[in-house]
Amino acid sequence: MSAKKGLNLTLKIWRQKNNKSKGQFETYKLSDVSTDSSFLEMLDMLNEELVNNGSEPVAFDHDCREGICGMCSLYINGRPHGPDTGITTCQLHMRMFKDGETITIEPWRSAAFPIIKDLVVDRSAFDRIMAAGGFISVNTSGKTTDANNIPVPKEDADKAMDAAACIGCGACVATCKNGSAMLFVGAKVSQFALLPQGKVEAKRRVLNMVKTMDEEGFGNCSNTGACEVECPKGISLENIARMNREFMGAMVDKG
Ligand code: SF4
Ligand code: FES
Repeated sequence: MSAKKGLNLTLKIWRQKNNKSKGQFETYKLSDVSTDSSFLEMLDMLNEELVNNGSEPVAFDHDCREGICGMCSLYINGRPHGPDTGITTCQLHMRMFKDGETITIEPWRSAAFPIIKDLVVDRSAFDRIMAAGGFISVNTSGKTTDANNIPVPKEDADKAMDAAACIGCGACVATCKNGSAMLFVGAKVSQFALLPQGKVEAKRRVLNMVKTMDEEGFGNCSNTGACEVECPKGISLENIARMNREFMGAMVDKG
């Protein structure tokens, strides 16, 4: 029985030395890529060849490789996280591609996510938004109340859990023509706004997070819905609507 032949691919990859330099696409040929391998394993294979040939490997972000950390931020053939739906780049398999295909790989393109090197972007703007209010202040003195003692309606608990599924990958920003971060911020505001524990600091939270989002240079939402389509975690646009309601309420109370 003859051995199964892998894919022969042409890779067009964005290469950029650093934030100051001008980048460009470089073309690489890669042969015999197993359809069972993941997209990141395919890039590992390319990098091994580059290193063996004395060339600089392609820099790309990854950590968990299980769809949890949100690090693997790649634009593949014009779509964030590639041609499959509901998954991150690290969960993308090479069986989604055809033998002889050309695959174009770019970093997230957004003014608020400056390129660090090649396919790696700086998403620390998300961290600053979280630091501005994406938390609850809890008593850790030892006299804490068990969270299970606070009744939460099932529907609210489910919606809060759905919002908390956001992994902060930034695909919503990358795919939005306005570079808006409202799906991300909407999810992070909602996961607390829906729960009793989050209500105490709700007004301050939404005002500070939205202010930081604007200061970081993210665009506004014009309801195109591309973010919801490309989000690997199925975060719903209803979180943006909830954030807007929370924000309006907090503004009115502020006077
Ligand atoms: S809302 Fe979705 S696309 Fe945006 S950061 Fe969260 S998980 Fe990623
Ligand atoms: S590497 Fe963690 S989500 Fe892809």
